[in-house]
Amino acid sequence: MLSTEMPRTTTGSTLLKTPASPSPNQNLLPLTAVINKNGELEIGGCSVTALVEQFSSPLYILDETTLRQAAQQYRQSFQTHYPGPSQVIYASKAWSCLAVVAIAAQEGLGFDVVSGGELFTTVSALKQLGWDEAEIAEKIYFHGNNKSVQELQEAIAVNCTIIVDNWLELETLSKLAANSGEPVKIMLRLTPGIECHTHEYIKTGHLDSKFGFDPNQLEAVFTYIAEQPALHCLGLHAHIGSQIFERQPHQDLGEVLVQWFAKGLTYGLPLKELNIGGGLGICYTESDDPPSIEEWAQAAALSVAKACDHHNVPYPKLIAEPGRSLVGSACVTAYRVGGRKVVPNIRTYIAVDGGMSDNPRPITYQSVYRVALANRMNDELSETVTVAGKHCESGDILVKDVALPAAEPGDILVVTATGAYNYSMASNYNRLGRPAAVLVSQGEANLILQRETYTDLLRQDCLPNRLLS
Ligand code: LLP
Repeated sequence: MLSTEMPRTTTGSTLLKTPASPSPNQNLLPLTAVINKNGELEIGGCSVTALVEQFSSPLYILDETTLRQAAQQYRQSFQTHYPGPSQVIYASKAWSCLAVVAIAAQEGLGFDVVSGGELFTTVSALKQLGWDEAEIAEKIYFHGNNKSVQELQEAIAVNCTIIVDNWLELETLSKLAANSGEPVKIMLRLTPGIECHTHEYIKTGHLDSKFGFDPNQLEAVFTYIAEQPALHCLGLHAHIGSQIFERQPHQDLGEVLVQWFAKGLTYGLPLKELNIGGGLGICYTESDDPPSIEEWAQAAALSVAKACDHHNVPYPKLIAEPGRSLVGSACVTAYRVGGRKVVPNIRTYIAVDGGMSDNPRPITYQSVYRVALANRMNDELSETVTVAGKHCESGDILVKDVALPAAEPGDILVVTATGAYNYSMASNYNRLGRPAAVLVSQGEANLILQRETYTDLLRQDCLPNRLLS
């Protein structure tokens, strides 16, 4: 769309779905978002304008209510629709930090971690919450297609479940387990050969994927594990992709996993858990149409239960590991508007004080976002602009051709639905410090991540003496 095209004459309030869906992933804004009497966006009872004045910008603003609601809906949905035991675990790669882990833990979630760093963050938070070793061990699942020996040792020390991805890891683990004295709990990740419609980079369950055992290897793997007393194989896992709007792929997955589960039991493996991964999509724009958390959980749960009945196997503990749909819709990023550049008859750019370093998704996946001026939510949308970041790279565009009120320097622009894979993929490109993050709830705002300072940026730098002479 060219800038000459007239935008819809409406206001930023259109981002607020009325009534909001109770399922966080079906809204553009967090559940507590309202427009106050000054025409400002408020989240968790806090004015976004006031938050930026207090904490500066860019700023991630995380709504506690939305995150808790999403977690509760996941848990309740599985409890309602699955006849066996269930456990929802948070895919902490979506946003791993102490406060998010603490909230997820308080809501009864377990944790999917994929690196020593995520494991360390999660264990640190759980210890601060007073969890004992047994609880921590039970609730953490360690993933990854190339875990280092050190990471495996760290996982064994915590006694969490390790999701084994390939033969090398299996062989390494069986040696480590034999030395550790106690059996090591493992699950097997398999590539189920299920296609789903999402971006090529975030699709993982099709056969040509770097993750997991190819199904035609599985019987050999079962045979191998059955002869390893030090490896206690609890179950099977698969994850087919992310930002998925269909229910069918996870229904198919339930059937495929249960078939392999039944086969694994015939090898005498002590299987009792089945992990269907994550993947439920969220609304980034009005045209996104994901099922609700309950609809998704119900579809997945029923397909697993039906397949268990069909194959005559006891209902395993059903594990789902969502990330995006737990935290994605709970957060907005607030920026200050800077200058503008008008390219006559082509485009008007307005620049903000962050960009691809705090949200690499547009440049990486061509992701589309929605924006509003948080301090002028009731102003008419009078122009079409492209929101550019401040990085030295032409592709550093946060949102293309969006309708906004005529933005002035100092206005506060929010990008919605930035809770998942924004902070966690943020970088220091151009030596920008990563933004601060605040947790908002009932009019209170607490810092959960400090803004990186120039000193932080130098913390890892080393200047060899010989360069000084
Ligand atoms: N389990 C496993 C094994 C995964 O690999 C993932 C995501 C999840 C669970 C959580 O999936 P979710 O519920 O969040 O869809 N950086 C990309 C997303 C990569 C997803 C990687 N794996 C993005 O920004 O879209």
